[in-house]
Amino acid sequence: MTTVLITGGHSGIGLAAATELAARKVDLILAGRSPDRMRAVADDLRAAHGVSVTTVALDLCSLASVREAATRVPATQLDALLCNAGGRFEGDVTFSPDGYETTFAANCLGHFLLVELLLPQLAENARVIYTASGTHDRDTTDGRMVGAAAEPDAEALATNATALSAGKRYSTSKLCTVMYAYELHRRLRKAGSTVSSIAYDPGSVPGTGFLRGMPRPVQLFSTTRAMNWLSRRLGVTVSDVAFSGASLATLAADPEYADASGKYFQAKQGKLSAVRSAKLSYDERRAAKLWDDSRRLARLTPDEEPAQLR
Ligand SMILES: NC(=O)c1ccc[n+]([C@@H]2O[C@H](COP(=O)([O-])OP(=O)(O)OC[C@H]3O[C@@H](n4cnc5c(N)ncnc54)[C@H](OP(=O)(O)O)[C@@H]3O)[C@@H](O)[C@H]2O)c1
Repeated sequence: MTTVLITGGHSGIGLAAATELAARKVDLILAGRSPDRMRAVADDLRAAHGVSVTTVALDLCSLASVREAATRVPATQLDALLCNAGGRFEGDVTFSPDGYETTFAANCLGHFLLVELLLPQLAENARVIYTASGTHDRDTTDGRMVGAAAEPDAEALATNATALSAGKRYSTSKLCTVMYAYELHRRLRKAGSTVSSIAYDPGSVPGTGFLRGMPRPVQLFSTTRAMNWLSRRLGVTVSDVAFSGASLATLAADPEYADASGKYFQAKQGKLSAVRSAKLSYDERRAAKLWDDSRRLARLTPDEEPAQLR
């Protein structure tokens, strides 16, 4: 039986992916910070598909919570690790319990540490998939609309040294996410591992919890036909929750994507394709620095360093 761990699998794109995986008879581990909602989804998926669904408490903003969660993941081999949770954090800048800016802590560092800690539990040919976003690319409409991504400098982002807007904090966190995926791919290949590392853009998906920090009228308008039409006209990468979730499941489970490591996939209007990511995302020097700085910020100890990456 195949087992997949997904963060944020109780809502939005993650829930659509979890539902698709359960329908394919994949056992699931849902990791997230809303225990009641996770339990309800786990009960539904078990009842509908007869699969095993476990829940693990995880707040990606807290390094202590990530470490605790990693010890609570059932001791089974994982066939895929879907780093899907994340969000855009509006309003005043806030900081995590570790003193790191919330967007960077939740979208970047939490998953970075989770991957490092769970790599030893990944099966042969397992897949790590990072849910990124087209907003990471400042040369696209998606990137320009949210706010052009800044330098992927972990130290500056963690301390909010460059005082970025909420939109730029988000797009930059997703640039880092794509770079983590590529850097992990390079490090795994160098170490002779068979594990894949893939970056994924689900497209602009209305109707999830993603815009929860926005004013209510903005949230309502985002789900209208008029907004869909306008978005397409402007060149936004438009998708819907069912297709984007199913695409994430496909990347995780389909044999067709066994050789997808080091690539970036995008869901757009019912089509899943490998596309180029932002120019900057291919900068290997910056990516290596991002990885090493993230290790320091996550306070990774020598004991925690996975053998696959030594
Ligand atoms: N919707 C879009 O247009 C769009 C476009 C591109 C990329 N994405 C990306 O797609 C992914 C899923 O987003 P979505 O659209 O499905 O929105 P969503 O319904 O709000 O799902 C986001 C998930 O992330 C979880 N999460 C947020 N902060 C967390 C934390 N500190 N610790 C643990 N879990 C946390 C949320 O948990 P709670 O429910 O407990 O808050 C929720 O389950 C995100 O990475 C997002 O950036 C979305």
